[in-house]
Amino acid sequence: MTHLHRLNSLATFTGTVLAVVCLAVTATDFVHSGEPLVTCEHVSTEGLQKEFGHDRAYVVLNLTADLRSEFVWNTKQLFVFVNVLFETPTNAASEMVAWSSIVKDKEHAVMTLPALRPQYPYAITDQGFNLRGRHFNITVAWNVMPKVGALSKRVRTFAGFRMPADYDNR
Ligand SMILES: *[C@@H]1O[C@H](CO)[C@@H](O)[C@H](O)[C@H]1NC(C)=O
Ligand SMILES: *[C@@H]1O[C@H](CO)[C@@H](O)[C@H](O)[C@H]1NC(C)=O
Repeated sequence: MTHLHRLNSLATFTGTVLAVVCLAVTATDFVHSGEPLVTCEHVSTEGLQKEFGHDRAYVVLNLTADLRSEFVWNTKQLFVFVNVLFETPTNAASEMVAWSSIVKDKEHAVMTLPALRPQYPYAITDQGFNLRGRHFNITVAWNVMPKVGALSKRVRTFAGFRMPADYDNR
């Protein structure tokens, strides 16, 4: 084998390695830009009370989210909201923010909250006494705030949850 030939083989080999590395990087990018994984469900209700003209339900939710793929070069931060939606005779459509968070970087974009209790006012309320047995949905919504450009909103709905059938004054 001449030196030139050896050099040529080495160049070809290096070229192949570089091509493979490039493909791998592209594949990683592809995986990272995949769909965010989000699930949220109703785990339990720690009390359903009748007070001061309304019902108050202490729901416990289970949020699992991986929003890392929303962080691209142009992402400044995410505003994440967990909402509880229901309809009652008093309010055609009620939407209550159960929880919200600002996610500033990829490292904090993985959320595992198996016992998420609503933030202030710590409970789901309704003007009236209509929460017993009430069906409700949960939405996980997030606004993507870019460094440059317009805010974009995304939402996932999880349907088919239900409040306890009766009051529980624990
Ligand atoms: C809950 O979701 C179901 C199924 O998507 C829908 O039919 C229902 O109208 C929703 N209810 C509320 C209160 O958003
Ligand atoms: C919460 O949800 C995740 C994802 O669906 C599931 O793996 C986990 O077991 C749930 N935890 C509880 C306490 O329900």
